[in-house]
Amino acid sequence: MSLGWEQLVEAAPDGIVVADGAGLVVAFNLAASRLTGLAATGALGRPLVEVLPLEDGRGRAWWGCVDPYAGLAIRTGHPEIELSLVTPARPTATALLVTASYLRAGGPRTPVTSVIVALRGTAGRERLERDRAELVATVAHELRSPLTSVKGFTSTLLAKWEFFTDEQRRLMLETVEADADRVTRLITELLDVARIDSGRLELHISLVDLPAVLRRHVERLVAGGEPEERFAVRVEPGLPETWADSDKLEQIFANLLENALRHGDGQVAIVLEPSAVGTAVIVHDEGLGVPPEAAARVFTKFWRGGRRGGTGLGLYIAKGMVELHEGTIALASGPGGGAQFRIDLPPGTPPG
Ligand SMILES: Nc1ncnc2c1ncn2[C@@H]1O[C@H](COP(=O)(O)OP(=O)(O)OP(=O)(O)O)[C@@H](O)[C@H]1O
Ligand SMILES: [Mg+2]
Repeated sequence: MSLGWEQLVEAAPDGIVVADGAGLVVAFNLAASRLTGLAATGALGRPLVEVLPLEDGRGRAWWGCVDPYAGLAIRTGHPEIELSLVTPARPTATALLVTASYLRAGGPRTPVTSVIVALRGTAGRERLERDRAELVATVAHELRSPLTSVKGFTSTLLAKWEFFTDEQRRLMLETVEADADRVTRLITELLDVARIDSGRLELHISLVDLPAVLRRHVERLVAGGEPEERFAVRVEPGLPETWADSDKLEQIFANLLENALRHGDGQVAIVLEPSAVGTAVIVHDEGLGVPPEAAARVFTKFWRGGRRGGTGLGLYIAKGMVELHEGTIALASGPGGGAQFRIDLPPGTPPG
């Protein structure tokens, strides 16, 4: 059964109000009623300007400003604008996002024969704005603590240089350096997050030797002072060829291994095996694992659990990068406790 256009308009997710050439309302759908608090029966046949007495940010009657029927004859509508509506049913102003199109059935420059107004609530946009404001506050907070420490130590050193021993000066400068590194790292992570969120992260695909990438990374950690026994790398036979961005994969592995060392405990098992998708990379440590109630949140921005946390962006970035490769990353609780992260990476395709 196909629906008539009236039923479709009635069921549309946005509020839709249509006025005819005389400015009288001829359609007023369900969403429009919900948004305005006005029943269709109270709107139909009445002048549009009375049914929707919209006001702009300065309290001016909007219809008076845009004047669809007598305004410029070349106008075809109005782009989205936030307006407020006060009706007898809703005495406190309702914020609405309003778009309008003007129909001229006789062709361009002839009189307007219909005005179609689309209404949308502002909850979605407000949520977005709140999220952005929260992000800015979090970032500012994350940047402030290392900078406060840098400023504190440098001021103290400058003011009282001669009162400190070489040893004390060195200790303070080391703290300053570590804090400067933290800021740099945070900014690098934030740039990755911005690229992921805006879809601007690009992949540079080449043939990747996954076991070599992993082994190289483990060697680097061992060279950096981690005992060799902390890692157990196992590569199962039959791995497919993988075309991927090796720098991004390095970054993903680096975060998983660093997490296992920093948040986990015991030995870190790293397994590479063929899977239904292509290749599975499993990183499993013997620590306390992620508490089940937090499992859903580990991949979100800025979420961090323990006291040993970094900024909480590592797994968010890893997920973004894995998904760009059309793979998946998931947290499973491993046998015998501990956190187990699993990446399923498809073989990918050669570039070009
Ligand atoms: N192997 C693990 N064992 C236990 N908890 C973990 C493990 N890996 C991650 N987590 C938890 O998940 C949180 C988020 O991890 P994520 O890598 O996103 O951030 P982070 O390591 O705190 O900071 P960043 O990676 O940005 O420096 C961690 O703070 C930690 O609480
Ligand atoms: Mg991390």
